[in-house]
Amino acid sequence: MFGDRYIQRTPQSKKLFEEAKNYLPGGVSYVIRFFEPYPFYVSKAEGQKVWDIDGNAYTDYWMGHGALLMGHRYSPVIEAIKDQLDLIPHAGFSHEWEVKLAKQVIKMVDSVELIRFTNSGTEAAMYSIRLARAYTGKKLIGKFEGGWHGGYDALHLAVSPPYELPGSLGITEGALKDTVILPYNDLDGVHRIIKGLELAAIIVEPVLGAGGFIPSDPEFLKGLRELCDEMDALLIFDEVITGFRLSPGGAQKLYGVKPDLTVFGKILGGGEFPAGGFGGRRDVMELLDQLKYKDPHKRAFQGGTFAANPITTRAGYTLLSELQRRSEIYNYINGLGEKARNALQRIFDERGFNAHVTGIGSLFAVHFTPVKPKDSKTAQQKKDVNLARSYFKHLLDNGIVVMVQDMQHFFISSSHKSQDIDMLIDVTQDFIDKI
Ligand SMILES: Cc1ncc(COP(=O)(O)O)c(C=O)c1O
Repeated sequence: MFGDRYIQRTPQSKKLFEEAKNYLPGGVSYVIRFFEPYPFYVSKAEGQKVWDIDGNAYTDYWMGHGALLMGHRYSPVIEAIKDQLDLIPHAGFSHEWEVKLAKQVIKMVDSVELIRFTNSGTEAAMYSIRLARAYTGKKLIGKFEGGWHGGYDALHLAVSPPYELPGSLGITEGALKDTVILPYNDLDGVHRIIKGLELAAIIVEPVLGAGGFIPSDPEFLKGLRELCDEMDALLIFDEVITGFRLSPGGAQKLYGVKPDLTVFGKILGGGEFPAGGFGGRRDVMELLDQLKYKDPHKRAFQGGTFAANPITTRAGYTLLSELQRRSEIYNYINGLGEKARNALQRIFDERGFNAHVTGIGSLFAVHFTPVKPKDSKTAQQKKDVNLARSYFKHLLDNGIVVMVQDMQHFFISSSHKSQDIDMLIDVTQDFIDKI
């Protein structure tokens, strides 16, 4: 049975999960970290590997929710932070690293002229929406089916089907009444829905992330740009996953489309620390400027106790300044992604198996669906969840971890080796042979 070996090897994790359930709802701190029958508990990590408390090693394709572009414990980041711990880990005052990181992001991402930092992608998305509303004086926000922008009420809708239901209990109708759900990769559909509406902004992931690593059609993003210009609405790219991953300048560089605002997270904090940020056009971002707008009621607000803390900003600066110099990192991780996507698809096709590999660059996902998904609807339609869970367990049995159990999202880091991908291919072949 798939998963048997995992159970035999993880008695300590099983025990700790039983205990955790007494103290943490569902035993976890984030529902997507749970999987059947119980999650393992990590004790250490290095490069592309994590170890659990029973001493088992796993090749990690989850990479800290995709934040760890260079793998676990990337030494330049870790060394910089050790030094920062001896200086000032938390300031609550202005410090040089926030300036350095801001300057660095602005150098790398063409559309960003000013930026503010937060502690998570969720916060950054929330503040970007507020800012867009403040700037345009309008209320409505367009967001896409399958788009995930974190748990902010106004955007926690239409993440998974049924799209018309809020993504959580406790979200009021009031919080959602200004959110307009739009179909992904379907420009005509978007035009139809927004006709006659006054939108403040459209927020979009250039590559659908949690929805299944489904890249936008280039014409789709270009069309959204034109549409936003016509409507005097802001185009917001959520690059929490794609930022600094698909290229030093993110997905927007790759697609050649310039958003008005961009939301960042994950890699922005060097991969190891809580991070978020939003930035973009000077005239829009200036609405946060207390020097320009002295009356707090005439400007937009953003802030937080740990916003732009020295640990995160120094880690982020250390990593991003290196990424800007070393384009070979991108060739390397994108090459591994290409290799994995092609080989896995070939294995599935040879057996006439209903499975499809989507993705771009160092991102790929496996879908047990009859058709290749082009949006989150087709990624969910007739999905064989049992097969997806069996694949997940088979990978675990063979020392490979990838989240989530119902749809495997692989993040490749620069610490992954070609042999890791070979092993993934072999283990997948073995899975198909056993089915
Ligand atoms: C595209 C996207 N936006 C926003 C978020 C939310 O970021 P965070 O988890 O840091 O709040 C995520 C998280 O995975 C994400 O993938």
